[in-house]
Amino acid sequence: MVPFLDLKAQYAEIKEEVNAAVMDVIESCQFVLGDEVRAFEDDFAAYCNSDHCVALNSGTSALHLALLALDIGPGDEVITVSSTFIATVAVIKYVGATPVFVDVDKDSWTMDAKLIEEAITPKTKVIMPVHLHGRVANMRAICAIAKKHGIQIIEDAAQAHGAQHNEKRAGSFGTIGCFSYYPGKNLGAYGEGGAAVTNDAKLAHKMRVLRDWGQEEKYHHIIQGYNARMDGIQGAVLRVKLRYLDKWTEARRAHAALYDELLSDVDCTVPLVTNDRHVYHIYSVLVGERERVQQALSIVGIGTNIHYPIPAHLQGAHADLGYKNGDFPITENLSTKFLSLPMFAELSDDQISETVYGLRKVING
Ligand SMILES: Cc1ncc(COP(=O)(O)O)c(C=O)c1O
Repeated sequence: MVPFLDLKAQYAEIKEEVNAAVMDVIESCQFVLGDEVRAFEDDFAAYCNSDHCVALNSGTSALHLALLALDIGPGDEVITVSSTFIATVAVIKYVGATPVFVDVDKDSWTMDAKLIEEAITPKTKVIMPVHLHGRVANMRAICAIAKKHGIQIIEDAAQAHGAQHNEKRAGSFGTIGCFSYYPGKNLGAYGEGGAAVTNDAKLAHKMRVLRDWGQEEKYHHIIQGYNARMDGIQGAVLRVKLRYLDKWTEARRAHAALYDELLSDVDCTVPLVTNDRHVYHIYSVLVGERERVQQALSIVGIGTNIHYPIPAHLQGAHADLGYKNGDFPITENLSTKFLSLPMFAELSDDQISETVYGLRKVING
């Protein structure tokens, strides 16, 4: 038996600390925002090498409020990728702007920077790269293009806590970096959670106002706002877990290296290895006949997943954008071949060997 993800194993390691932190919040009755959330904001901003962190109720809210803070709205275009979780695209539509997709690079599986300039129009206001699976997109090239054209960058770093590109942390390249703390993420809350990081004090302030019904002062609503505040309990849990994140990330990276090595004689494509710090939120391989492979693994008790089976441009919810099959060949090809293998810090070498043994048997025969 190899589960795809085992959150109970992680809880067992931190049970006493996390229980005490949660009890402290309950005793203090600071259930929404409060001291623990403020302290977590300071800790996470420092972790990302950013000046400010605004704690929110989800990664979706982080992306949404980032767009609002930059005054993105109807008539504006946001360049992003279709090979992502639906939230990346949904938020662009929430603010009335238009998502414009570019294909991903066939090796890194992230935004292909070479395709960005031909997608830029006078309406382009933001580039929103996605650090898919925990690998930072090619931010050196993306930042250079954004600078040349005077376009802002919002990073979707929902899957990339602590990932690095050229020694720089995910979330710290763009104007605003957005994170999710959904429970299964590398840094996961015990419920929903998210945050936006930035070096711009004015944008941080605006996102704090937006998350709290547009009020700077109680019942004085200066702009249209939202309820997007982080719970006190989530701040406390995340503060405890942040202290373990680097240890857990190194474990994930070691698991990935072992997968890479053991899969070398299996007919599948493993994630590209570079000098960057990939944090392997997801360890996905490319396989043919994916349904057959996934089913065979399931029969022998090996949990897998697919991130993601239908690209955003082919989702029914985005039919209004007018894209069709064939528009983004690399994205479409990846979506038919991605197979995510078990990946979490507490995974054992034996479980990795068992997974690879299963894969080898079903693929190589
Ligand atoms: C790439 C990406 N963007 C955005 C989100 C949205 O985050 P949340 O689920 O916290 O709203 C997620 C989370 O699943 C994600 O993986």
